[in-house]
Amino acid sequence: MKAVRFHVHGGPEVLRYEDVNTPTINADEVLIRVRSAGVSPFDAKVRRGYYKDFYGSLPHILGWDLSGDVVAIGLDISSVKKGDPVFGYIDAHRMGGAYAEYAILKKDEVSYKPLHVSYHEAAAVAMNGLTAWQALFDTAHLEKGQTVLIHAAAGGVGHLAVQFAKWKGAHVIGTASAKNREFVLSLGADECIDYTTTPFESAVKDIDLVLDTIGGDTLKKSFSAVTPTGAVVTITDFEGIKEAARYGVKGLTVFVKPNTKQLSEIGHLMEQGKLKVQIEKVFPLQEAEKAHILCETGHGKGKIILMVP
Ligand SMILES: NC(=O)c1ccc[n+]([C@@H]2O[C@H](COP(=O)([O-])OP(=O)(O)OC[C@H]3O[C@@H](n4cnc5c(N)ncnc54)[C@H](OP(=O)(O)O)[C@@H]3O)[C@@H](O)[C@H]2O)c1
Repeated sequence: MKAVRFHVHGGPEVLRYEDVNTPTINADEVLIRVRSAGVSPFDAKVRRGYYKDFYGSLPHILGWDLSGDVVAIGLDISSVKKGDPVFGYIDAHRMGGAYAEYAILKKDEVSYKPLHVSYHEAAAVAMNGLTAWQALFDTAHLEKGQTVLIHAAAGGVGHLAVQFAKWKGAHVIGTASAKNREFVLSLGADECIDYTTTPFESAVKDIDLVLDTIGGDTLKKSFSAVTPTGAVVTITDFEGIKEAARYGVKGLTVFVKPNTKQLSEIGHLMEQGKLKVQIEKVFPLQEAEKAHILCETGHGKGKIILMVP
């Protein structure tokens, strides 16, 4: 099969479109003919070698979120069958593999693709939808009537988090630059702060929950924006969050996990028109390098997708 992989860690130019062996499945696995694979900042960090201790084995096929059609099922699989359109998120504790014509999803990673949701939309929502859901609901237990500040509200995770939080009945404030203001408000956010001109920490106070997708200074300044009973949940700065206690607030972290039940709930919301996924740009698989260059600008609107012909 064709796949994109890298033989050395480095910049986007290390990505190679080449022939590799098609993977074979175990009893608890499903082989997918991939139609669409998501590109995320995490992929770029793995490519650069940030997590070499874990993802050190080369060559490496990236990609943890995907959609496609089932072409073979293992003996223990009864939840999907050959020919089903599906989507899923490959546990980050596995090596990925979605930037390819064929990829493997395990039993607990695969869910039916909703009929009226495209392959691209399904791939775009898998990892980021689970991340936003698990951060807001499983970890921070966001409740109706609470006020939540969502950083990078136009980003891959942020734009879904805004919609989930509104759906839950929260008052939602997003941060984004001016070019994304209308987009963020169109997702249902009640307010949008232009982080390039307004220090958010002086524009808001008594926030119940901050969803941090940026880390560093943004995370640090978030601690003083929350009420004494409030919390900050980060998906990106697991070191910085340790300072939460110094500010007397709760600091939480999320590392997304596969969850087929949540995937199908998210798919249902999309099918009902209650959740819209924004696709920044679609690149053919061969152009993964260009997709990574765009991803690493850090100023995308929604999710970048690789289309697998
Ligand atoms: N822990 C987990 O399980 C998990 C899961 C998924 C992702 N992540 C991580 O979460 C982070 C975000 O991922 P993503 O896919 O949402 O990123 P993304 O889509 O690349 O984020 C781009 C967005 O960030 C905004 N932005 C940049 N700097 C900002 C700032 N200082 N304040 C507010 N907004 C800012 C940009 O807005 P403008 O263009 O308007 O500037 C743009 O809309 C990444 O580090 C990723 O690796 C973690």
